[in-house]
Amino acid sequence: MAGVGTAVGGLFDRSADRYDRINTAITFGQDRRWRRWAARSAVRWPGPRVLDACSGTGLVGLEAARLGARVTLADVSPGMLARARERATARRLDVSTCLVDLADPQAAAGLLDFDAITLAFGLRYFDDPAAVMRRLAAALRPDGELVLLEAVLPDGGLVARGASFYFFHVAPRLAVLLGGRRELYDRLTASVRSLGTAADVADVLAAAGFDVVRRRRFVGGLVIGVVARRTRGTVAG
Ligand SMILES: C[S@@+](CC[C@H](N)C(=O)[O-])C[C@H]1O[C@@H](n2cnc3c(N)ncnc32)[C@H](O)[C@@H]1O
Repeated sequence: MAGVGTAVGGLFDRSADRYDRINTAITFGQDRRWRRWAARSAVRWPGPRVLDACSGTGLVGLEAARLGARVTLADVSPGMLARARERATARRLDVSTCLVDLADPQAAAGLLDFDAITLAFGLRYFDDPAAVMRRLAAALRPDGELVLLEAVLPDGGLVARGASFYFFHVAPRLAVLLGGRRELYDRLTASVRSLGTAADVADVLAAAGFDVVRRRRFVGGLVIGVVARRTRGTVAG
C-alpha cells in the first residue's frame, strides 16, 4: 500500500513543472527572499554539509550550494528531484540527490552527520511532525542546526489577518487560475491549518530535542523562519 509520503510525492510529481513559477507568482516574488534567508542561515562557514529535506525542486538547497555548501537534496517526489537536477546542471552546481520518504524511519536512517538541515515548507505534510523532527535531529552532527521555514496560522495583527485572508482564500484560486492543481492547493491550506501556530511549531521542535536560537517572522507572521540547534544526546524516534 502506498504510504502518506508516497501519496504526497505523487501529488508533487504531477505539479513539478509549474510549482516554482506559481509559487513566485502567488507570493509576488517574496518566496525567493524567504528561501535566501534559509540558505544563508544554513551556510555560516565555508563548505558545510547541508541536507535540504523535502527539497522539492531545490530552491533552498541550490542556493546553499551556490554559497559553497556540499548539499544533498532529499525528497519523496522523483519529479521534483528531476527538476532540481535540471536546475543544478543549468547552474553548474554539484549536488547529490536522495529519493526518500522521510516519514519512514528505516528509509531516513542512512542520512547522517550533516552540519545543517534546511526544511522549507515541508513540515506540515507529515502526520507526526515531532517524529520527523527527531529523525532529522539524528541526521545532524551534535550542535548542528536546523533551519525551518514554514507557513503557520498567524497569531493576530492587521498585516497577519490580511495576509492570512489572501493566503487561505485568494492565493489558492489564483494558483489554480495559473494552471496549478486544485488538490495541491487544497492540501496546502489544510496542512497549514493542521500544523497550527508558531507556538505549536515551537512545541514540536522542543519535543524533538531542538533549542531555538533565532526566529524570523515574514508577512506579519504567516511565514516563520526558525534556526534551532540539536541538543546533545538526541535519539531518532
Ligand atoms: C511545498 S514543497 C516545498 C519544497 C521546497 N522545500 C521549497 O521550498 O520549494 C514540499 C515538498 O515536500 C516533499 N515531501 C512531502 N512529504 C514528504 C516525505 N514524506 N518525504 C520526503 N519529502 C516529502 C514534497 O514532495 C515536496 O517536494
